[in-house]
Amino acid sequence: MKPHYRHISVLQKEVVDYAPPSTRTILDCTLGGGGHSHSLLEKYPKACLYGIDRDAIAVKAADRKLQNFRKQTRLIHASFSELPDLSDKWGNPGFDYIIADIGVSSEQLSCPERGFSFINEGPLDMRMDPDRQHFTAENIVNKANEHELVSILRNFGEERYARKIVSTILEERRKKTFKTTLELAELVKNVIPNKMKKKGFNPATRTFQALRIAVNNELQELTSLLEHTPSFLKPSGRLAVISFHSLEDRMVKQQFRKWENPCVCPTDLPYCVCGEIPLGKVLTRRQVKASKEEIAKNPRSRSAHLRVFAKTSR
Ligand SMILES: C[S@@+](CC[C@H](N)C(=O)[O-])C[C@H]1O[C@@H](n2cnc3c(N)ncnc32)[C@H](O)[C@@H]1O
Repeated sequence: MKPHYRHISVLQKEVVDYAPPSTRTILDCTLGGGGHSHSLLEKYPKACLYGIDRDAIAVKAADRKLQNFRKQTRLIHASFSELPDLSDKWGNPGFDYIIADIGVSSEQLSCPERGFSFINEGPLDMRMDPDRQHFTAENIVNKANEHELVSILRNFGEERYARKIVSTILEERRKKTFKTTLELAELVKNVIPNKMKKKGFNPATRTFQALRIAVNNELQELTSLLEHTPSFLKPSGRLAVISFHSLEDRMVKQQFRKWENPCVCPTDLPYCVCGEIPLGKVLTRRQVKASKEEIAKNPRSRSAHLRVFAKTSR
């Protein structure tokens, strides 16, 4: 087992500052290296922390990081969509603070054998939970049809050159099977016109993001998280979500707005007749972003967006 888990938590101070004043129960939905959980337990040493991650390596790393708090932590290898069952298993404790720092960790990105990196040679894998998932990026790249591939690259990567990249993949597929990350990254680099390449932005970024989202069913996982968290929160409890790309951030923003203003009455009605009751209030009018100092220390924090919702007190 590796002694060191490579990940610097983003927006750490902000996540701690947004915790409700006397937090007693915390749910960390994305333990990673346990950085956010650790800071929260340092601030609220009497709190009970329940934590999950779909990556078993992350759960082990978080367990090591939180070893001084073992009596008050319950960490489990699971994904967002398993939370309703887990909450039942835990006796539905209700949480004052739920955090989700979604996406991949630097540890996952920097292990070539996990296949998330377009910089290092590795198998085309990208599974966050290789113990329980079978479907890999290699399956998609070599087996999906043209329509499926284009829609993955467009919908999950917002890739302008989706069609061109896919037709080149299909051409190459007649001659060989794609096996490695660099084979794919090189193909994308050659397809995207030079004038569209930006300094400091690898041309394969969007393609890799799209495949990762598809392999891990990430948007459905986020939908499941957003569907269930309101019922897990105690009155006045808060949900903090950090996302790293616009697709997820948009989903979080829109869901928070709906919870705050669920009214579905026609806008020309003088008063509300639908009877939908607001669930609470958005605490972050705009997404919270990392400071210049944080970005200088940890460039990955540049794309982090934090949004926080507070449930009503009744
Ligand atoms: C950015 S890291 C979290 C880092 C953590 N907050 C820290 O401070 O160390 C994201 C983690 O979320 C996990 N993850 C992503 N999607 C998930 C899901 N649907 N269910 C459970 N864990 C998930 C990943 O495996 C990864 O370990």
